[in-house]
Amino acid sequence: MKVLVIGSGGRCHAIVDALAKSPEVEKIYCAPGNAGIAAEAQCVAIADTDAEALADFAERNEIGLTVVGPEAALDRGVADCFKRKNLRIFGPTKAAARIESSKDFAKRLMTEHGVPTAAYRTFTDYAAAVEYVRSHSLPTVLKYDGLAAGKGVVIANTFDEAEQALRDMLVDDRFGHGRVVVEEFLQGEEFSLMCFVSGRNLCPMPVAQDHKRAYDNDEGPNTGGMGAYTGLPFIDRSDIDYAMEHIMRPVAEALDEEGTPFCGVLYGGLIKTADGIKVIEFNARFGDPETEVVLPLLESDLCRLMCDVADGKAVEARWSDMATIGVVLASKGYPGSYEKGCAIDLPADLDATVYHMGTKLDAGRLVTAGGRVMIVVCAAATLAEARDKVRRQVERIGCDNLFHRNDIADKAFKNRE
Ligand code: AMP
Ligand code: GLY
Repeated sequence: MKVLVIGSGGRCHAIVDALAKSPEVEKIYCAPGNAGIAAEAQCVAIADTDAEALADFAERNEIGLTVVGPEAALDRGVADCFKRKNLRIFGPTKAAARIESSKDFAKRLMTEHGVPTAAYRTFTDYAAAVEYVRSHSLPTVLKYDGLAAGKGVVIANTFDEAEQALRDMLVDDRFGHGRVVVEEFLQGEEFSLMCFVSGRNLCPMPVAQDHKRAYDNDEGPNTGGMGAYTGLPFIDRSDIDYAMEHIMRPVAEALDEEGTPFCGVLYGGLIKTADGIKVIEFNARFGDPETEVVLPLLESDLCRLMCDVADGKAVEARWSDMATIGVVLASKGYPGSYEKGCAIDLPADLDATVYHMGTKLDAGRLVTAGGRVMIVVCAAATLAEARDKVRRQVERIGCDNLFHRNDIADKAFKNRE
């Protein structure tokens, strides 16, 4: 079968890499892809949001399965367009993807179905939002109600900060004209639970933990994710059972009941509070960088799994019980402004899997081409071994303009001590 993967980052590279292992896959195309993906797939220059052009390509090239990586593509209705043309697509429709694209929709669905999440109110009016915030305790969490590339969430520790954020979102329309969800601040250990979902059928993946802040000890600005690991010691079987029965399954069933059944990966951004596990957010797709540490553990055939999900069937998956850690190498200055085009020396005998996030070939030389440049992933029988291994391998990559966190997965060890 010929498959098409839509997207270009490290998540996409991990999906392509897993699909390449399937005996059913004859050829992989990736739109638009990147320099690392080009080693395993044929990259085609179509934007990941150009639904019509992507569907035309799939039709002309007799693609048997198309997989959507990024949320922007889902929000542009890429899956709807494929479905209209009877093309097999792994990814939810625009309506089902509202679980991610609209915080207000997600909150309403959770409240109506008794899914545990932070208390909230939605506002369009600046003055009303300010009054509400002033009458509640700090810190408070302000979320722009729409896609804002991970930058639409502000945790305000003072009323001044909260007012500034509300002004940005509701008066100056920094992310576009919209609404703001004001919610209660939750405390606890965050984790990501991704499930393959096909209507009312769910199949969980191993849980992972992302590291969103730019610098060690969770300091510095929020990023797209600076690393992740699996093998979380503070989440046990009963936590996962609870999250499946009280969070993931009710949400998939609610989407089905509303006439917008979900197909693809439903991502629960969860938090284990003193008061039980609650939802921070949902995504309608594979997480990044969680996918880069989770998919290497998959022992089942990803192509078969995805085809079955797309065809509305129930699926089961086998996973390795190894632990994985991924460390992101980012351009100095990220998530602010940074230089591009810096040469990267990637040793050929690196004992790790490298997924490219933002790289390019420039006259045959690998150079940086984005904020997050690559993620280095190691697997081992224990998390401690994986951590030692990934640290050694990361140090072997030469580039003057990259930085990385040195404490990915340290939380797992702190929690144990
Ligand atoms: P989101 O885009 O909703 O995932 O928010 C980004 C990050 O903000 C999350 O990963 C959390 O670390 C933090 N966050 C969001 N909502 C809350 C909340 N209600 N309480 C505490 N932290 C939150
Ligand atoms: N790792 C968080 C996300 O994919 O949105």
